[in-house]
Amino acid sequence: MATIFSGVQPTGFPTLGNYLGAFKHFVKYQEEHDCYFCVVNQHAITVPQDKLELRENSRKLAAFYLAIGIDPDKSTLFIQSEVPAHTKLGWMLQCISYIGELERMTQFKDKSKKRDAVSSGLLTYPPLMAADILLYGTDIVPVGDDQKQHLELTRDLAERFNNQYNDIFTVPEVHIAKVGARIMSLVEPTKKMSKSDENANSVISMLDDEKTIRKKIKRSTTDSESLVKYDETNKPGVSNLLTIYSLCSGKSIEQLVKEYDGKGYGDFKDGVADAVVDQLIPIQERYFELLESETLDDVLDHGAEKAARVANKMLAKAERAMGLERKRR
Ligand code: AMP
Ligand code: TRP
Repeated sequence: MATIFSGVQPTGFPTLGNYLGAFKHFVKYQEEHDCYFCVVNQHAITVPQDKLELRENSRKLAAFYLAIGIDPDKSTLFIQSEVPAHTKLGWMLQCISYIGELERMTQFKDKSKKRDAVSSGLLTYPPLMAADILLYGTDIVPVGDDQKQHLELTRDLAERFNNQYNDIFTVPEVHIAKVGARIMSLVEPTKKMSKSDENANSVISMLDDEKTIRKKIKRSTTDSESLVKYDETNKPGVSNLLTIYSLCSGKSIEQLVKEYDGKGYGDFKDGVADAVVDQLIPIQERYFELLESETLDDVLDHGAEKAARVANKMLAKAERAMGLERKRR
């Protein structure tokens, strides 16, 4: 059985883009794979965080994983800082990473451009991410396409370590979802839907209520053609809505294009909104229940224990390979 690992930062609540691009696939994976899902709070502190918010967001994200259907009997769900092996291996991998290759990461360039003080953690984020993945002998990492470069570096670091020290790490494959790998902004459909967008109308939060969801979709940018057709270049708004509709309803894009042949954008947007509401409301109901339950803490306690058991074995191998273990007399 192949091992899957994915991590999400507990910063802000997941958006529809996160859900369709990443989370939704996780639920399918757990049926046939050994899955690890990690709330990567140590990645979040590479930029300043409010401590109460970070704590709350970590819990909320864990509840969200369960609400969308992650089953703790099938998958391991845990919080990164509760498994110290991550930062330990992260440090070791930092020591075989080159500053030049870290400075070339587009996420580092983007995030450091926006601030005066850039933490060294922002630069050394990718070796920590590599540690997350490599500790579990991960075969497959499902992510959105913005993480491709980090995955390439993870593969490089795994190979570098294997060549220089000992062949212990599995070199992971990246899985990018084909449809919906990039859900775009509802206002500027040539830009990715992102929780950091200043315009709240661009983004559907997974916690938006029905009225808000309908309003945002009604107001979303389309074009003047009044033709429901998939054409990313000339009709980015309509194409994005088609992707969202298809992923939320399970109908193919071709099917939807046929269904809305000769109908205007008003009808089409109502259909999109119905599909999104049907998908989100049941998740929200489960989420609010879980947030108040002890189940969540039990799941996270067990998750951290199980993850640590697996991770510590790999960490011990890596320490031995690098000469960090003590040889007893
Ligand atoms: P982040 O927002 O960076 O915490 O991303 C969490 C996960 O969701 C990652 O796997 C991203 O690649 C994915 N993701 C973020 N935004 C989008 C989007 N607009 N469309 C599809 N996937 C996304
Ligand atoms: N860098 C990822 C993001 O910003 C989050 C992440 C951290 C991750 N560690 C990971 C994703 C390990 C996959 C595997 O989205």
